[in-house]
Amino acid sequence: MEMKKVMVIGAGQMGAGIAQVFAMAGYEVKLQDLQEAFLQRGMKTIEKNLNRQVEKGKLSGEERDQTLSRLHPTVEVEAVKDVDLVVEAIVENMDVKTKLFAKLDELAPEHTILASNTSSLPITEIAAATKRPEQVIGMHFMNPVPVMKLVEIIRGLATSEEVYQVIYETTKVLNKVPVEVNDFPGFVSNRILMPMINEAIYTLYEGVATKEAIDDVMKLGMNHPMGPLTLADFIGLDTCLYIMETLHEGFGDDKYRPCPLLRKYVKAGWLGKKTGRGFYVYE
Ligand code: CAA
Ligand code: NAD
Repeated sequence: MEMKKVMVIGAGQMGAGIAQVFAMAGYEVKLQDLQEAFLQRGMKTIEKNLNRQVEKGKLSGEERDQTLSRLHPTVEVEAVKDVDLVVEAIVENMDVKTKLFAKLDELAPEHTILASNTSSLPITEIAAATKRPEQVIGMHFMNPVPVMKLVEIIRGLATSEEVYQVIYETTKVLNKVPVEVNDFPGFVSNRILMPMINEAIYTLYEGVATKEAIDDVMKLGMNHPMGPLTLADFIGLDTCLYIMETLHEGFGDDKYRPCPLLRKYVKAGWLGKKTGRGFYVYE
């Protein structure tokens, strides 16, 4: 099974990063989203990242131009008709994802592997929306994608060994480190990370300390590169809430109950850095 043409669906912060690393590794990449404006925003982010690398002398101007020439933005989901691998990076919502996977299953060639960058949702359930569950797999990149080395690889119940091996090897071609995890809510990364973030939000909600103090404690005391509230803003508060809901529902344990303050911010549309306001305000 040779992976040459890739389609990344969703040109948000994850999709743009994923498209960038595939294009840098030499793949032809279609980047799909619902509107031209979202595609332009994603392409602008990629260009900015590549230009920064050129300024730092880590990439030549020619390499940047070649990378950009391998990226093909489109609003047409039908563009999946000639790709070998799809990596889905749309909103963290099971209904929306299963509808998309059912459509991709109809349109994509028989051999195409359908991977999801979901942060927490069961791969087995996403796979069940298709007639090719053995070719559906989790490929969970970390944010910011061009920087972070880890990719969690999640097998659904039906994922074939061959598909697992192809995705494992493809991850290495991207210069990332694949780590195999089982299909449980939140996998490993978000089962551990997100309750910590949720607890930090409870700590703020209960008035234990200011947001700055909470972040300083974890940065200066535990050497985390970002405090948990800054990290929540960076990930997106909508995504954090979806992940906590998946953990809460999936395990049925109240220790995963999303903090009411998190719900309130999401209802207000304060989704973090991407909307200019979350726990902090961004210019
Ligand atoms: N996109 C691309 N590159 C970026 C970037 C971005 N958003 N932000 C920083 N970088 C690059 C910089 O260009 C720089 O590159 P070089 O080394 O080539 O010069 C490098 O990253 C370091 O950047 P800075 O020196 O400016 O800043 P920093 O040292 O503070 O690092 C950081 C920035 C890497 C983001 C760091 O703060 C960090 O590691 N934060 C925590 C990130 C984290 O925990 N990610 C996981 C989130 S959870 C997740 O992804 C899973 C999920 O499902 C929710
Ligand atoms: P985002 O909000 O930045 O981007 C999502 C993009 O998907 C938007 O541009 C939106 O227009 C597009 N989209 C929505 N529905 C679509 C559809 N049906 N077809 C095509 N495009 C569609 O979100 P994000 O932070 O990039 O997260 C995307 C996925 O990656 C989620 O599943 C999330 O859980 C996961 N993830 C997020 C992070 C993170 O730190 N933010 C880390 C790892 C994984």
